[in-house]
Amino acid sequence: MKKNELIIFDTTLRDGEQSPGAAMTKEEKLRIARQLEKLGVNVIEAGFAAASQGDFESIHAIAEVIKNSTVCSLARASENDVRRAGEAIKPAARGRIHTFIATSPIHMENKLRMTPDQVVERAVQAVRWAREYTDDVEFSAEDAVRSDMDFLVRVFDAVIKAGAKTINVPDTVGYSIPVQWGERMRQLIERVPDSDKVVWSTHCHNDLGMAVANSLSAVLGGARQVECTINGLGERAGNASLEEIVMAVRTRKDVFNLETTIDTTQIVPTSKLVSSITGYPVQPNKAVVGANAFSHESGIHQDGVLKHRETYEIMRAEDVGWGANKLTLGKLSGRNAFRSRLKELGIELESEELLNAAFSKFKDLADKKSEIFDEDLHALVSDEFISDASETFKLVYLNVCSQTGEVPHANVTISENGQEKKAEADGGGPVDATFKAIESIVNSGAELQLYSVNNITSGTDAQGEVTVRFSRGGRIVNGQGADTDIVVASAKAYLNGLNKLHSKSERAHPQV
Ligand code: KIV
Ligand code: ZN
Repeated sequence: MKKNELIIFDTTLRDGEQSPGAAMTKEEKLRIARQLEKLGVNVIEAGFAAASQGDFESIHAIAEVIKNSTVCSLARASENDVRRAGEAIKPAARGRIHTFIATSPIHMENKLRMTPDQVVERAVQAVRWAREYTDDVEFSAEDAVRSDMDFLVRVFDAVIKAGAKTINVPDTVGYSIPVQWGERMRQLIERVPDSDKVVWSTHCHNDLGMAVANSLSAVLGGARQVECTINGLGERAGNASLEEIVMAVRTRKDVFNLETTIDTTQIVPTSKLVSSITGYPVQPNKAVVGANAFSHESGIHQDGVLKHRETYEIMRAEDVGWGANKLTLGKLSGRNAFRSRLKELGIELESEELLNAAFSKFKDLADKKSEIFDEDLHALVSDEFISDASETFKLVYLNVCSQTGEVPHANVTISENGQEKKAEADGGGPVDATFKAIESIVNSGAELQLYSVNNITSGTDAQGEVTVRFSRGGRIVNGQGADTDIVVASAKAYLNGLNKLHSKSERAHPQV
């Protein structure tokens, strides 16, 4: 590691996936991992291997294909978790095991029911188990923010002696404020023996909206790794957002004097991909990746920017990848051009048959929409081809009648396990009528918690991307669908959500 390098540890595929309903399939995770590698992140935390067989397989598959980033699995400090993580990262060119245990009194007493001595012993043991698989072992003291400083020093000293190479200090509950967090990092580095032999890391949650500020303060206190996620996804209010950390360090080099390996022009494409796969839209006023992040509304600002851009802009839109959504293909593009663009986007369809089917969908889309962008291709393949949620329900036919003065009415045919079923319904609007008609067939019992529509690219011929969020029996899933017709996109999203509810993926949560 170079002296002035800041390691970017991306945990979109692990902590990000802990956002309600953001669970991803293996193929989706692979696409994001490839894009993260292109973005230049140093470490990809690909998942939590012991959570489920699916998580294990996703990490293993990512470890097989990613060559330039370190591939990491999370593991609680138990022998089974650490060994599962070790097996999952085995194929990696560079593999890391990230093991953790809680160190705050509230967690040790109530959750772990362990004494501080037992916690130290278990932390050391976990690091030793992990070292049987790799030299690259990271240790985290969960809830470090509410842990006693002397105890943290003791735990960190012990795990460094056991062979941990990265020491992560998490604000698990988003409780800290920047001045305290930077100071905590500084004191730990000062007090822990051999602190100069390890990389100090921070991992902050955003419950009080200070995850990025706290992370940057820890960097000023000596941290040289930041754990973060694309679009700030993550448990509850999320994690520190990668794009904000990277652009703050780059824009304020005068303060941080640090470099990252991030290709910043890949930030916006990565943000869009993650948003489209997880169904978590990016708020328009979100720093760096929000649609309004570089648009100037007031006349005075517009005038200033036209005369001299730096009057109101501290970053350039093109430096973070705005405008990088290349116009890729059009109506006349052939099968080979289509295949090679998918490949460049990190999308590999498993068979010629799937490629042919995707190409025919692409041609249909090109008939409706003259210019096809990368985002359209991502939506097209997500929608139909590489979702491995069980395909119990499929949309076969939809006819919606919506006119002024009349009650909107929908006629729907879906196939359920290959058997066609029809229904019709009235509704408050065409989408409402469509959903009611589908529900009258499936009787899902699911509660619709969210319905949102976003345009994938600009223009009125853009595809609309619809997200629905369902909750049923304590489980939350997001369904997505895309189409130039937003009512069709809505029906697809509804059925995609139902398919996800049907696929019973049992997963353990790392922090429970
Ligand atoms: O927030 C947290 O403490 C975590 C740890 C597992 C690092 O996600
Ligand atoms: Zn976390």
